[in-house]
Amino acid sequence: MSPRLAARLREGTAQVHRAAERMTLIQALLRGLTDRTTYAALVRAYLEVYTALEAALVANAEHPVVGPLVLPELWRRRALADDLRELVGSSPPGPPSEATRAYCRRIETLAASAPELLVSHAYTRYLGDLAGGQILGRIIGRALGLGPGAGLDFYMFTEIGDTVAYRQAYRARLDGLPVDDAKAEAIVEEARRAFGYNTALFAELEGSALRGFGRLLRGRGGREQHEVLRAS
Ligand code: HEM
Repeated sequence: MSPRLAARLREGTAQVHRAAERMTLIQALLRGLTDRTTYAALVRAYLEVYTALEAALVANAEHPVVGPLVLPELWRRRALADDLRELVGSSPPGPPSEATRAYCRRIETLAASAPELLVSHAYTRYLGDLAGGQILGRIIGRALGLGPGAGLDFYMFTEIGDTVAYRQAYRARLDGLPVDDAKAEAIVEEARRAFGYNTALFAELEGSALRGFGRLLRGRGGREQHEVLRAS
């Protein structure tokens, strides 16, 4: 069993977490400064990523380290597919972006060659969705006029009532995983990498759609606003 894997993950990703929060796209989303097209592009990318992640977790359900994190109440693939249909209609989505493909390739490689490192990817996405994601979801919903069943299902964990208690239980699961110290360190390192794949996704979207938002935010103290949201 790994000593303090949950705490090590939190500490080991604190810096990359702060960097992700400060990204222009996230700042824009936090301030309700987004449009349907940009949000649809993010949902489109996530659909690919969660499809890869959930397939990888399920394929490794018998693995002693991965098995305890195969938790279908977390699965987001169907919610994302529904959200995307709501946002762009039923026309087939375009090909996934480069950053999306790189993220998925990493997950697929790990599924085949180092399944225990999938823990890092599950941690980065699902605990994030259950924490800051809940704040983001409310803001995006208000900004774009979306709600449950209408483009915002990604943020709705309908099978999980109390997200705070669930996060605590998830962290206890992490602490119970049968990994030694070296493996725990590799999992923390891979979590930093997982944050990197996420920031690459955001950077790609910023590049294509948000240059104007960036200028706007720099002029309006987005950081202070974010600190307030984080404390709330
Ligand atoms: C909108 C920007 C964000 C905000 C406001 C935000 C906020 C938060 C908050 C308040 C927590 C709870 C911290 C705690 O329980 O001590 C949290 C945890 C977390 N967030 Fe974020 N976050 C943001 C972006 C992200 C991004 C982009 C990712 C990664 C893709 C991410 C991944 C995580 C993870 C993995 C945790 C769990 C930390 C832990 O308990 O170990 N967050 N976030």
